[in-house]
Amino acid sequence: MKNYAIILASGSGERTGLDTPKQFLKIAGKTVIEHTLQVFQNHPKINEIIIVANKNYIKKVQSILRENKFKKPIKIVQGGLTRKDSSYNGISSIKDVEANVLIHDAVRPFVSSKIIDKCIEALKKHKAIDVAIPSSDTIVIADKNNFIKQIPERRFFRRGQTPQCFYLPLIKKAHELSLEDSEAKNVTDDCSLVLKYGLSDVYIVEGDHFNRKITYPLDLAIADKLFQLKSLKLEDVELNLIKDKVVVVFGHSRGIGKEICTLAKKYGARVWGFSRKNGVDVSDFNLVKKALFDVYKSEGKIDYIVNTAGILNIGYLEDRNIKDIQDEIAVNYLGAINIAKESFNYLKKSEGSLLFYTSSSYTRGRAKYCTYSSSKAAIVNLVQALSEEWTTFNIKVNVINPERTATQMRFQNFGKEPEDTLLSPKKVAKVSLETILGNFTGQVINVTREDLF
Ligand code: C5P
Repeated sequence: MKNYAIILASGSGERTGLDTPKQFLKIAGKTVIEHTLQVFQNHPKINEIIIVANKNYIKKVQSILRENKFKKPIKIVQGGLTRKDSSYNGISSIKDVEANVLIHDAVRPFVSSKIIDKCIEALKKHKAIDVAIPSSDTIVIADKNNFIKQIPERRFFRRGQTPQCFYLPLIKKAHELSLEDSEAKNVTDDCSLVLKYGLSDVYIVEGDHFNRKITYPLDLAIADKLFQLKSLKLEDVELNLIKDKVVVVFGHSRGIGKEICTLAKKYGARVWGFSRKNGVDVSDFNLVKKALFDVYKSEGKIDYIVNTAGILNIGYLEDRNIKDIQDEIAVNYLGAINIAKESFNYLKKSEGSLLFYTSSSYTRGRAKYCTYSSSKAAIVNLVQALSEEWTTFNIKVNVINPERTATQMRFQNFGKEPEDTLLSPKKVAKVSLETILGNFTGQVINVTREDLF
């Protein structure tokens, strides 16, 4: 029996208050719906995908499909006025007598292949399935005057997610019955219909906390952060993939840059390092240009470019020497621009990856750090902009945000600090390689001593 994924994408996104419906907003270099489609596209047990889209966005969906060249059969169906109508349109477009359908919100891009697996497995035994997680909030039932009528025991509550999955004839029947039922128009999910008409029990498959729905502007900000975590946590990146890749590291002579060279070599990469030590000052465009040209001439390709070159001089602005300040900005900011500009042609050819470094002070400037923290904030902004400019070329560009790290630069500015309060440059190097090998772009990757997840 075939497994169809129906992706509901016909919502108007009124609740975000934005002009574009949330499924078409971009996170981590791709629209929300592209992330969602990718999960179903990659799942080996999904045979076909049906996208239900609003008629004003059908062209947009068509162009997304053209750009992504997904391999599975994908059909676009026009949506309806309510979610229920859209769902019915998706279901009715399937001509098979028997099939399984997995109905999923386009605005839940974090659905995992594990959840899909569990659903398909459960469909062998049950005809209707919901995905849900225990509620961590207490749910209160209110009356129309804003008074609590009842607080049911929390342990009985689960929060519904999607996909909701069904044996096709069952969910078709539920929708057909609802056509005659005026009370059904407020129903916001498909399982409710099955229960309303007593057609089947609905079995619950455990979802997960990542599988969130993007509804409000805050959800978008959270989703952006979750993509950082997901990119590194859920995609198991094999460092062996770096074997025979050409990696260029600017700022290779010490600290994080040095560790990256060592680790990349250990995994078989062909590594080229540049720094002031071998005459390459990143603030000089021509030197950067020559360095990359020499590597290309010798290797015939450049896969990954990493820039760890950075200067930190602390002090109050008014007390500091203008030459030092200009030097710091030239290395930290102009250096990144020089490298990015000159990297483009090489990385376009290899569909490679560029990696920069920021500081935890990028989100909020710190006293005595004003030039350092503002130059590091600029790097994040630069990476976000470039990731958008370069998505069509398949060049990935990300930025690492390491916690206080045990490097010489830190030691020079802050003296000796207890070892166990600092992050090891080895860990930053490992995450750096995972990032350049990863398939995400425009991300700020936080590296901390202890993992949050
Ligand atoms: O509005 P709600 O949050 O329930 O939307 C869940 C999903 O249903 C979204 O992916 C949305 O695009 C979709 N939807 C739809 N047609 C509608 C309303 C919502 O496909 N008329």
